[in-house]
Amino acid sequence: MPVPPPGHPAADLAHDWPLRDFLELGPLPGAVPCARYHARQIMWEWQLTRLGDNVELLVAELVTNAVAVSRTLDWPFPVRLWLLTDLAGVLIQVWDAAAQPPARIQVAEDAETGRGLLLVEAISSRWDWYELPAPGGKVVCALVTE
Ligand SMILES: Nc1ncnc2c1ncn2[C@@H]1O[C@H](COP(=O)(O)OP(=O)(O)O)[C@@H](O)[C@H]1O
Ligand SMILES: [Mg+2]
Repeated sequence: MPVPPPGHPAADLAHDWPLRDFLELGPLPGAVPCARYHARQIMWEWQLTRLGDNVELLVAELVTNAVAVSRTLDWPFPVRLWLLTDLAGVLIQVWDAAAQPPARIQVAEDAETGRGLLLVEAISSRWDWYELPAPGGKVVCALVTE
């Protein structure tokens, strides 16, 4: 499981999550529904269905972005998803191989894209991202609590 570098504002999110799930996906159009459905099942297994809708939405947004940027790379790097819980909150971590950071952008009122991270900010209690020195790329993470 990737952890934020020491001193990073997200470093406190790397505590010892007792329950963990991992899924690796190809950067393909089916990755987003797969990840979403998988997250729903895991929330059920963890008896956290009350957080399920929010977790699903965040997984969908973060994996969509990770797949989109991975498809611009000249190698079909996978996208990796971790779901972690202490049964109070759920930390979603999504890795992609691109160095380019996520950026909240100003969106025009009639724009049809550019609202994903706005939604992530609204739904999560916290979100952040960090670079991974090895194997490279970066992780975008979002915390869901009640
Ligand atoms: N995982 C990511 N890797 C690189 N860039 C990203 C990533 N996630 C988001 N971004 C950048 O941040 C921008 C805003 O993301 P988002 O709010 O989800 O809007 P949209 O995906 O509709 O463009 C994206 O257009 C992209 O440039
Ligand atoms: Mg997006």
